[in-house]
Parts: sequence; structure tokens; C-alpha cells
Amino acid sequence: MKDLILVGGFGTRLRQLTFSMPKPLVDFGNKPMILHQIEAVKAAGVTEVVLAINHQQPEVMLNFVKEYEKKLDMKITFSQETEPLGTAGPLALARDKLIDESGKPFFVLNSDVICEYPLLEMIQFHKNHGAEASIMVTKVDDPSKYGVVVMEEASEARVERFVQKPKHFVGDKINAGIYLLNPSVLDRIELRRTPIEKEIFPKIASEKKLYAMVLPGFWMDIGQPKDYLTGQRMYLNYLRKNAPGELLVSSGDDVIGNVMADETAVIGERCLIGPDVVIGAGCVIEPGVRLFGCTVMRGVRIKEHACVSDSIVGWDSTVGS
Ligand code: GDD
Ligand code: MG
Repeated sequence: MKDLILVGGFGTRLRQLTFSMPKPLVDFGNKPMILHQIEAVKAAGVTEVVLAINHQQPEVMLNFVKEYEKKLDMKITFSQETEPLGTAGPLALARDKLIDESGKPFFVLNSDVICEYPLLEMIQFHKNHGAEASIMVTKVDDPSKYGVVVMEEASEARVERFVQKPKHFVGDKINAGIYLLNPSVLDRIELRRTPIEKEIFPKIASEKKLYAMVLPGFWMDIGQPKDYLTGQRMYLNYLRKNAPGELLVSSGDDVIGNVMADETAVIGERCLIGPDVVIGAGCVIEPGVRLFGCTVMRGVRIKEHACVSDSIVGWDSTVGS
């Protein structure tokens, strides 16, 4: 099975981090955002991932691919645009890479969504309804910044309407950015800048061939700083329940709640860390530091008695005393 990950956005809402790193390679939970997704699709049986890249720093991406193709024993290839093709155009560009003789459906993922990735369930869901396309949806409090999906009254799962970023309330179930599509969807997409949410999904929905599966568990689009930190809190909470070994264990009153720290990070004495903190590789947290609700990316030094909260501290920075 194959998977295409849309990695060609400009990441403008995650500046300054995205000035020096493409958004999909920004660390989340101490690994690049897209690694979470690649590992998830591999677990669901995907053997080949196509990264739909735009123009940005392909050499950084190239190094990432070289490293993880080996580590994960998967084929990871690029499909590179010369101009931005939106969220559907890249599928047309990668057409030959996505179609295989078996005619199997393929996954498409936005690169900035984090969740439990119930992809095996999604494959089953897709088989059960037998139509052309499946999308994952989730409930959020403020649907206005997402694509809203309205289901038919008569059918629990069939999509009646798809409205991208509506100005007025039409429903609270939103597009979670994870799709499973039959190859026939490619026949609907022209090789030009096309938003899948505005031009392709509404059309498939109008033909009653689009189905939506409600995502179990947590979900967040981590493409904006505030949402990144909310997503981090949710992710650490998920690890607490499902993989507590990934979190730091308190040896007294030094750690509060969920904290993840790379094993190469050095944490000084009399620090108080947590809740909801991630500390990257090679960080030095000097004595007496207070951290909560933050990410300290690899190579950061936090000097004595500093207090950092509600922040993302980018790679190799220093925070003074
Ligand atoms: N290759 C390529 N080319 N990728 C692109 C392009 C492009 O021109 N434009 C955007 N992307 C990628 C981004 O890198 C990201 O992974 C994905 O497409 C979605 O773009 P975002 O910029 O993050 O969109 P959004 O968050 O505002 O909205 C989308 O995601 C929501 C869920 O998080 C939409 O799909 C919404 O409907 C959805 O609810
Ligand atoms: Mg996004």
C-alpha cells in the first residue's frame, strides 16, 4: 500500500521555527513531525511513502529520507513541485507513483496533524462502505479554521457537504487531514494548483461517494504555536496511558506530571520540571530552573534559575539566568 504526505506548505504560522527548518521536520515529542506519520502508516501496512514537497530546502529533506529509509526499511520518495499545487494538485503530479497494479486505495496525510492514527480501522471502514473516498473527522470547539464536514441525516457516515473554513456555523465535525482514496479520485484532479478541500471533496460528496469516519482519541493540527503546545499536552497524556516508559519518572519533587526528556539531556539540581514539558537531545538545564508547558528543542541551554512556560524554545538557543 502507498501513502502520500503533503509536505509542501510554507509553514508561515510556525515561524520563526520554519525559517530554518521545513514544518514537517520540526520536532514534536522529540522527533520530526512527519516521522510520527511515517511510523503510523508503516504499522498499517504501507511500504512506500511519497513526500509531496514544494520548493523548500530539499537537501534537509533528502538527509531525512536517507536516514529513515534505512532505519524504517521503507521506500520513501519525493514528488517535487516547481510551483505550489495546493492540496490536490500534488496528487496529480505523483499519479504514477500512487497507482499500482493492484488498484488498491492509498493514504493521503496532511503533515501537521497529530493523533493516534487508527489507520487499520480506516482501511476496514473504507472496505465496508465500498465507495470512492474516506476521510477522518474529529470534533472541535472552533470549527471555523478547519474544513467542516456535514453528514447526511439518513446515513451515519456518508458526507453530505464539505465546507472549507466556513464563516458561519455549519457543524462541529472537521476534516482531520487523513484520507484513504481509491485511484479513481486521481481522474478528478488536474495538474494545476487545486485545493482538495474546495474542488475535489465537495464534488465527491455531491455524488454520495465520500464517507467520514469519526476519529477515536485525541487530535490536533500542530501547525501554529498555541496549537502545537496544546497538541503536545494531548500527546504526552496519550503516552502516559499507552507508553508511560517514554516519560520521565520523578525521583522526588523534581518532576510534575508528564515530562519527556531525551536521555542525553542534562538536568541540574533543584530544578522543577512539568507538567507538559519536552526536553530535546543535548539540552543543558542548569540548576534551579523551572519549566512548565513548554518544549525545549535539541541543543538548548537554560541558565540557572530561569523560568520558562508556555513557550517553544528553538534549537541551540540559550535562555539567560
Ligand atoms: N505539496 C504541497 N503543495 N503541500 C501543500 C501545499 C502545496 O502547495 N499547500 C499546503 N500543503 C500541505 C501542508 O504542508 C500541510 O501538510 C497540508 O498541505 C495542509 O496545509 P495547511 O496549510 O496545514 O492547511 P490548514 O491546516 O489550514 O487546513 C487543512 O488542514 C485542516 C486539518 O488540520 C485543511 O485540509 C482543512 O480542511 C483541515 O481541516
Ligand atoms: Mg495545518
